[in-house]
Amino acid sequence: MIKISPSILAADFANLERDIRRVSSADYVHVDVMDGLFVPNITIGIPVVKAIRPTTDLPLDVHLMIERPVRYVEQFCDAGADIVTVHVEADTQENTLRCLELIHGKGKRAGVVVKPKTPAQAVLPFLSQCDMILVMTVEPGFGGQSFMADMMPKLRQIRAWIDAKNPACELEVDGGIDPVTCKTVIENGANVLVAGSAVYKSDDIPGRIAQLRG
Ligand code: DX5
Ligand code: ZN
Repeated sequence: MIKISPSILAADFANLERDIRRVSSADYVHVDVMDGLFVPNITIGIPVVKAIRPTTDLPLDVHLMIERPVRYVEQFCDAGADIVTVHVEADTQENTLRCLELIHGKGKRAGVVVKPKTPAQAVLPFLSQCDMILVMTVEPGFGGQSFMADMMPKLRQIRAWIDAKNPACELEVDGGIDPVTCKTVIENGANVLVAGSAVYKSDDIPGRIAQLRG
């Protein structure tokens, strides 16, 4: 089954509770955390995760676009994150493995993310420890960018490795997902689709969420 994880980066930050309730037919709520260093933008942090936690029963899918996330992963878990993903480019292999351990130590799901220029092979040292792998289909930092179709060979390769080595691991895509590109990523092996603009700019949010399932 295809899961949808609406990104609240495209929601109205003055009405987050209302906008999270609007996506209650989705599977996860995607929370984009940016630090102004790993990416050239600053969004939301630990207090906001804590504040939105009681507004939904959906799992919070927290995408950390921050340098050296090992410093903060436990705090995001304590704030109410259910899935925490960290970028492989954000620290050493040792510290990224440590992130996965710390997140699992809190009883939460853990994963790694790869930016567009990062090769598929970069996920291999982490695959056996991951509950999710996230393949970026835009450069991280901003919502509303165009889908990068040239990420599809990488997505297919990672799907093949997941099926062979850790079939319970979810394969998520993030960036430029809409009613057309959703079909492409599903064909290429994704099972969790993040969508910001495509969900929140729609006049019929439940209808759009259903449509994105392919
Ligand atoms: C980009 C974020 C995405 C973003 C997706 O750095 O990780 O989650 O919100 O937005 P859309 O769906 O508008 O491309
Ligand atoms: Zn994201």
